[in-house]
Amino acid sequence: MERVVGNMHQKVSLTGIKPTGMPHLGNYLGAIKPALELAEKYRARYFIADYHALNTIRDPKMLRDLTYEVAAAWLACGLNPDDVLFYRQSDVPETFELSTIIMAFTSKGLMNRAHAYKAVVQANEENGKDTDYGVNMGLYTYPVLMAADILLFDADVVPVGKDQKQHLEMTADIAQTINSNYGKTLLTIPEAIFHSTGQVVQGLDGRKMSKSYNNTIPLFVPEKKFRKIINSIVTNSQAVEESKDPEVCNVFSLYRLFASEEQQETLAARYREGGMGWGEAKGALFDVMNAQISPMRDVYNSLMADKSQLDAILKTGGEKARDIAAQKIAFLRKEIGLG
Ligand code: TRP
Repeated sequence: MERVVGNMHQKVSLTGIKPTGMPHLGNYLGAIKPALELAEKYRARYFIADYHALNTIRDPKMLRDLTYEVAAAWLACGLNPDDVLFYRQSDVPETFELSTIIMAFTSKGLMNRAHAYKAVVQANEENGKDTDYGVNMGLYTYPVLMAADILLFDADVVPVGKDQKQHLEMTADIAQTINSNYGKTLLTIPEAIFHSTGQVVQGLDGRKMSKSYNNTIPLFVPEKKFRKIINSIVTNSQAVEESKDPEVCNVFSLYRLFASEEQQETLAARYREGGMGWGEAKGALFDVMNAQISPMRDVYNSLMADKSQLDAILKTGGEKARDIAAQKIAFLRKEIGLG
């Protein structure tokens, strides 16, 4: 749904952030930064998907801590809560009502086809277990809850990773079913925007940076630890005096993401001329990264040191989000004959 700002129509960008704790460099460059850039052009609504997290995180302290970490990280990365509506999903219980409404229009077969659910079923079959072993209804209906998140706020675009493609197709499918049943556009059909950094962010071992490979560079660890992690990047066993190839180097590929063209040329020349040890290259990488990250790290640390700031930001965001959601639900109830 478009809103008029001055004489400019601004569309809505919305995304859900799973509370998985402190993000790593790959998350920052691949998801956080692009979503914050979108927020400059769109009316952004970004939330922490804590209802979704409940499917796997059953420890209340852990859920709360992970939520704080991810909220502090996004704020430290530059999310301005005055521009971006930033809230906790669980502060908007209208999400439940919309979930229930859309469930009536969602075929069971559609849910059977969801990748995440299918992967569990397949693993169960391979391991000779009951098909439904370990499958809770939260996992099974995950795409419905996600559709409710999106449709409740009339999102036009949803910045997500490629792994969420199917969820977005299902959301559009459900919305279309409802719109065509009532013969009018009750729900905005969202479009996925897939992040691409142009470059895959490589992890410590040169594979794609991912928690599942245990090769990540966490964004906001203390500086000393950060240096230690940079020093643990895997390099080859070439001696100091040998000429080195920057094009096939884990250190250089990360350097590229942070250094200016000029800095890149200078370091590449040091690689080629020989006489440069890996310690020197890693030192140069640490310097460029730390220059960008350290001001953000300070913000992160100060937010984490006093959670009342985070509580206040999320509370304000939650109240505003709830207002918008309540209006949408009131509109839908009227249109579909409830109450
Ligand atoms: N499923 C998303 C993920 O795994 C998180 C999410 C929940 C989401 N609700 C959403 C993303 C709504 C976009 C829109 O990353």
